[in-house]
Amino acid sequence: MAIREDFPILREQAHGHPLIYFDSAATSQKPRAVIDALHHYYEHENANVHRGLHELSSRATEAYEKSRKRVAEYLGASSANEIVFTRGTTESINLVAQAWGGQFLREGDVILLTEMEHHSNLVPWQLLAERIGARLRFVPVRDDGTLELDKLSSLLTPEVRLFAFTHISNSLGTINPVAELCRKARAVGALTLVDAAQSAGHMPVDVQELGCDFLAFSGHKMCGPTGIGALYARAEILDSMPPWHGGGEMIVSVTLEKSTFKKAPHRFEAGTPNIAGAIGLAAAIDYIEQIGRAAIFEHDVDLASHAMKRLAELSGMRILGPAPPRGALVGFVMDTAHPHDLTTFADQYGLALRGGHHCNQPLMRRFGVPGTTRASFYFYNTKEEIDRMIEILDTAVRFFS
Ligand SMILES: Cc1ncc(COP(=O)(O)O)c(C=O)c1O
Repeated sequence: MAIREDFPILREQAHGHPLIYFDSAATSQKPRAVIDALHHYYEHENANVHRGLHELSSRATEAYEKSRKRVAEYLGASSANEIVFTRGTTESINLVAQAWGGQFLREGDVILLTEMEHHSNLVPWQLLAERIGARLRFVPVRDDGTLELDKLSSLLTPEVRLFAFTHISNSLGTINPVAELCRKARAVGALTLVDAAQSAGHMPVDVQELGCDFLAFSGHKMCGPTGIGALYARAEILDSMPPWHGGGEMIVSVTLEKSTFKKAPHRFEAGTPNIAGAIGLAAAIDYIEQIGRAAIFEHDVDLASHAMKRLAELSGMRILGPAPPRGALVGFVMDTAHPHDLTTFADQYGLALRGGHHCNQPLMRRFGVPGTTRASFYFYNTKEEIDRMIEILDTAVRFFS
């Protein structure tokens, strides 16, 4: 597969075996194009942005702001001013919780979440709720891993000010009907936040089509560098939000007593940003768009279907999550081995899986498991690798029984 050649790390061996990397939901591997973009930046453009009056600073500023435009185009935002660079999904959600939630939510207001949220779309709301006396409410998850949408009408009441939910579950692979959820939230006057950590690099994501108010994602899960991601927020909402971090870059004027602040998005980017990261993220977007998000999604569904079918052949294996179409990951539990033991076993064969609660402790409790072993895929993975995983897991079934 020609695409694999673009990823130098896929030639690595692990414990003397060819590496099979099935942990892309945690972080994806990086193509040469992204690694080269980072090199190019440090070799030809490195300087601080926005403040310098010299050639390199202009180059860095131009490249950084061009990357913001690239992210806006990628998400279908109406302007680059709707994109705030952050460290990733977690920081984007904390920004909304602190800046928007801290300003506009009051005691008794309700934040609606779901039972399948990653801790990063749960803990920031718990902290906010505790601070201001807001209440949290949850859409339950059915046994098949889908949301109990028939409960939505009783949960989405006028006290709900925000409905924040994941696009694709990082443990179940469930793809939530984002546009429908946003439409229903809007009907009761609630804003919506989409956690696109698992979808932004895997399928077409267009904020206008989805109709969301906020959307958060991480660059490192979509071929980009670590430490960079973004928050999309509808312009009128972002403009209404106060700053959250104070410091350089985000001010217009400062006296010893008081400061005035730049317009969005710069108001939300205090201090020296991750310039190289933003440039690397734009290179990742270029790379992904060359392959095409629709094609990536098709491949994802194909791999997830194959993995589910093959895993079902193994004895004592419980597979979590709905039938395909679903995201490019499968979580499973073997009845004779703890997920950590199974994952460590697989590692001895060069197979990189992930074992644990996947930052989904309430969801694991919901399914009555201590955690799962998760195989997660990307467009550089193949069915042959899945077949090899099944051979290794089959050995594990015999080893642990
Ligand atoms: C659904 C989901 N949301 C949020 C996150 C947090 O992303 P990050 O750690 O890049 O901020 C993850 C990461 O695993 C995720 O899968």
